[in-house]
Amino acid sequence: MSKLDKNSKIAVIGSGSMGAGIAQVAATAGHDVCLFDNSREALEIASGKLTKILDRQVQKERLTRKEADAIHARIEFCNNLEDLAGADLMIEAIVENLDAKRNLFSHLELIADDTTILATNTSSLSIAKIASACTKPHRLLGIHFFNPAPLMPLVEIIPAVQTAVNALVEARNLIDSWGKVTVIAKDTPGFIVNRVARPFYGEALRILEEGIADVPTIDWAVKELGGFRMGPFELMDYIGNDINYVVTETVFTEFFYDPRYRPSFTQKRMMEAGWLGRKSGRGYYDYTDGAENPKPTEDRELGQKVLHRILVMLINEAADALYLNISTREGIELAMTRGVNYPKGLFQWADELGIDVVLQQLEALQDLYGEDRYRPSVLLKKMVKEKKSFYSENLIEN
Ligand code: NAI
Repeated sequence: MSKLDKNSKIAVIGSGSMGAGIAQVAATAGHDVCLFDNSREALEIASGKLTKILDRQVQKERLTRKEADAIHARIEFCNNLEDLAGADLMIEAIVENLDAKRNLFSHLELIADDTTILATNTSSLSIAKIASACTKPHRLLGIHFFNPAPLMPLVEIIPAVQTAVNALVEARNLIDSWGKVTVIAKDTPGFIVNRVARPFYGEALRILEEGIADVPTIDWAVKELGGFRMGPFELMDYIGNDINYVVTETVFTEFFYDPRYRPSFTQKRMMEAGWLGRKSGRGYYDYTDGAENPKPTEDRELGQKVLHRILVMLINEAADALYLNISTREGIELAMTRGVNYPKGLFQWADELGIDVVLQQLEALQDLYGEDRYRPSVLLKKMVKEKKSFYSENLIEN
């Protein structure tokens, strides 16, 4: 397996928002980068965007002109797959389609050296399934950046069952050396962030559907009382209701239709209507110039109720991810605070609220609705029984 260091050559495949961002990160760390796309137009767009981004960095005096030019010069924009030969690490960031990715990796293996490490930036596909398209699956793993890659510190590192330990160690050390915060996640749907964050959207949508509170009030409660940077509806509009819906649907399907991840009709209809959010000018809010959006009911009692319902569902999801060894306690805390900017780690929050209080609230919801969606994690039940908290000495004995 290639020893990865600052002299390693990096290939990035797919020059869309993620690929271009990853190439920028690698070039900024001093690597020679080959950024490949099968669309010349996409490459031109990526090059133009990079010029603008670097110019802005120079204006803000974050980079000198010379540094910015050197970063740009280190990225070669390639339209020929053979140009990627000699790369020590190849990171794929093409369309989120299993067949396209498997097909690409089977071609990359013909170009790659025997020691080249291969990585996929997939958000939702099985790393094992992608790796199984390769003749040497042990050198493939998931390296999942967040958008925008140059700004978001978190990177989830996902070994497949086939991945060799040294491929994992080499890749993780390299990404750490780029100044990123890496966490190791199990190859399960949504990895850490896209799994644990599901109730942030799902429970907010459910609260809306039941008429407990309206869109601006839910967003207000989560921001004002919870300290989150964006409310769930603002965030869904920002991500795009189409993208957010598809991630939810994929996670739901991949979890063998576990009701906890069931998508919402409200969001599906938004997507079907083309009300995608900011990018289409209309989502839960109206983004057209001069549009007046409804104001929140700043009722603190209602707000607390809304916030706590979302919060206990997030804590439950995080606890279950920990119980099932998707990552460590620290890994999950870092993932949510550095990948999606939560104001606090969910386990820290759970301790502050009291694990018994969280469990009681989940049990009350499950009792009221009779739905498996609200079933409390076994970990929370064990912790209450044993009077433990997430940050107490001996955490869990599975
Ligand atoms: P995008 O649609 O902006 O870019 C995809 C690029 O891949 C396009 O330029 C397209 O021309 C190119 N492409 C498609 N098929 C190709 C092939 N066979 N060979 C070479 N190039 C090909 O997509 P985006 O958003 O950059 O996502 C890329 C990957 O990163 C996906 O797997 C996505 O799930 C993942 N991801 C996306 C995030 C996001 O927020 N957008 C966050 C983290 C991961």
